[in-house]
Amino acid sequence: MSQGYNRVFNFSAGPGAIPVPVLEQARDEMLNWQGAGMSIMEMSHRGKAFIKVAEAAEADARTLMGIPDNYKILFLQGGASLQFTMIAQNFLRGGSADYITTGEWSKKGIAAAKLEGDPKAIYDAKESAYNHAPAYGDLAHNDGARYVHFTMNETIQGVDFAADPPADGRDWICDMSSNIASRPFDVSRYAMIYAGAQKNLGPSGVTLVILRDDMVERITPGLPPMLDYKTHVDNGWMYNTPPCWSVYIAGLVFRHWINFGGLAKVEEMNKAKAAHIYGVIDASGGFYKGHAVEANRSLMNIPFTLPTEELTTKFLEETKAEGYLELKGHRSVGGLRASVYNAFPEEGAKALADFMRGFAERNG
Ligand SMILES: Cc1ncc(COP(=O)(O)O)c(C=O)c1O
Repeated sequence: MSQGYNRVFNFSAGPGAIPVPVLEQARDEMLNWQGAGMSIMEMSHRGKAFIKVAEAAEADARTLMGIPDNYKILFLQGGASLQFTMIAQNFLRGGSADYITTGEWSKKGIAAAKLEGDPKAIYDAKESAYNHAPAYGDLAHNDGARYVHFTMNETIQGVDFAADPPADGRDWICDMSSNIASRPFDVSRYAMIYAGAQKNLGPSGVTLVILRDDMVERITPGLPPMLDYKTHVDNGWMYNTPPCWSVYIAGLVFRHWINFGGLAKVEEMNKAKAAHIYGVIDASGGFYKGHAVEANRSLMNIPFTLPTEELTTKFLEETKAEGYLELKGHRSVGGLRASVYNAFPEEGAKALADFMRGFAERNG
């Protein structure tokens, strides 16, 4: 335990840790936001005070992630899961698109798209238990594909493409839910990026969508208004009541990482955190086994297994007693998973690594 307030080391895959200074500011402003006499949760989204919050969140998202002017920023609801459907409804209907499957979340993406059109699975890493991502250059694309969809970081398998797609004229659409803002990325390589906020950007309830302007012209006409990106673009993502509190916190998170020094600094910090844990896995002589191949190891989600179920249970019991929580792996991969999102402190990663070393010595 550390960081004050009796906080545990929270290795949750999502919702994940939020920076403590953000929580402190939210606490301080909870009952009376900057003299408004009420909390953000209680005020009209059309009022001056919230508009100020919304504009700052958008501007800071743009600054932090280097989002060019020809991209719209939308704060929507329905999670990344609704995006699986909206993408297909808006851009696929009546046509085909290329889908890359590297794990559980990209599987869900293509499954939702199948209900709307003809998504083609151009790559599926099933045969190797979803332990890697393809090199962009090895993909065989289909003529006429309206876009290429992929999941940059597979949260469950801990598999990361580790680079932006090429500037090849294709319209790359990326689910960045579990690694957005974990390192610098070149927005201009993408037609669209989306991410549920609850891992690196703030609380659940808001989904960030970054959409290139020309994509708006290609939207299928006649969609239900809430499912049509154009509705949200035309109404500055305030067609209906937005998730005001979640946007406010996301805004504080953007500002926090800008003040920290930007995404290059964030990446440096994330590499150091992940290195503590991967270092122990690699030096354990096979006691710990990581899931992903080295080139595609995620900096955010680190799934690993122990030699037996008994040891896995013992590991979970002992770490829980130390105040290291949410380390149980997803049922589809088994074992353990340490998620170390941006706001997860380096001392927590180091503490887990030290514990892992001792546990292997005692039980190996
Ligand atoms: C990569 C990825 N995509 C999509 C989702 C689904 O997000 P949501 O729960 O916001 O719908 C998750 C959630 O964990 C995820 O990790």
